[in-house]
Amino acid sequence: MSRSERVYVAGHRGLVGSAVVRQFRSAGYTNLITKPRSELDLSDQASVRAFFEDERPEIVILAAAKVGGILANDTYKADFIFENLAIATNVIHAAHECAVQKLVNLGSSCIYPKHAPQPIKEEHLLTGPLEPTNEPYAIAKIAALKLCRYYHEQYGDNFVSAMPTNLYGPGDNFDLVTSHVLAGLIRKIHEATINGGPVELWGDGTPLREFLHVDDLAAAILFIVEEIEAGSLSARVPDLFVNVGTASEISIRDLAKLIGRIEGYTGEFTWDSSKPNGTPRKLMDSSVIHQLGWSHRVSLEVGIRTTYEWFLANHDAV
Ligand SMILES: NC(=O)c1ccc[n+]([C@@H]2O[C@H](COP(=O)([O-])OP(=O)(O)OC[C@H]3O[C@@H](n4cnc5c(N)ncnc54)[C@H](OP(=O)(O)O)[C@@H]3O)[C@@H](O)[C@H]2O)c1
Repeated sequence: MSRSERVYVAGHRGLVGSAVVRQFRSAGYTNLITKPRSELDLSDQASVRAFFEDERPEIVILAAAKVGGILANDTYKADFIFENLAIATNVIHAAHECAVQKLVNLGSSCIYPKHAPQPIKEEHLLTGPLEPTNEPYAIAKIAALKLCRYYHEQYGDNFVSAMPTNLYGPGDNFDLVTSHVLAGLIRKIHEATINGGPVELWGDGTPLREFLHVDDLAAAILFIVEEIEAGSLSARVPDLFVNVGTASEISIRDLAKLIGRIEGYTGEFTWDSSKPNGTPRKLMDSSVIHQLGWSHRVSLEVGIRTTYEWFLANHDAV
């Protein structure tokens, strides 16, 4: 089926944005609009407004953000809050002014309180203090989802948000210092397979984490665009967002073993218990989007295999 709506993907070169472009193309969308950051700085209000007036998108996926690990978030707090607030306010407001029919805004699980009950439900938003190291980023993401909610309440805009759990997949960041845990393990174990072990890891391996393949997130975004209306979601989640996860979790120790098996690593893992474990458990409750009809398809094993293949094919460039 050919779908001719004009779809603007903000952040199309990123992990999420590039998966959204692949997903929408394969679903038959023929009118995708993208613009590299060198030609459109989304933190510049006048440029964003002019771009929307020229291009007149009908659907917007907001997957552009200044993202980073704990160190970057903690060091550049002002940049993280300013740039993410600016990107969100500029894009969401321009979408409103240009009468965009549907907007999906990307957030993340860091919006929730540090000690939120597990599994974390949408209703746990703003029920306690945030994790201090990423508070500026989280505040910007909370402001963005509230903007979507209030543009709906005041003007009827069909703007909703998605809060994915930890993502991985092709195009991930495999840098040993700044990567997230799964991509970092893929690289560390790959290097130990070639150069010899052991693989040295932080903590004791007991923390439980949830992982979603980025292609599953892109499918969820397509599902939200086509099936979830702000008006009907508001009765279930007044803040108009849905958690997007798998509802299953794995310990870091078992994750390391699984990646080791996939990569053919036969050496040892050593655990440095003097280093922090982080939160013992972080699982999202994704029952709202599951009940609405979306669920993930890519198993963790298959997802890691294909991500490792992508890493091998591209690893000189990552
Ligand atoms: N990765 C995860 O595990 C994860 C998990 C949950 C939620 N999310 C959410 O998903 C969204 C996207 O994350 P991601 O992992 O795809 O990040 P990413 O790979 O870093 O991609 C972000 C994109 O935004 C673009 N961008 C940043 N600032 C910009 C600006 N001022 N003007 C124009 N473009 C700009 C970047 O452009 P350049 O390529 O030019 O830098 C990049 O293409 C974020 O909201 C994030 O919170 C991610």
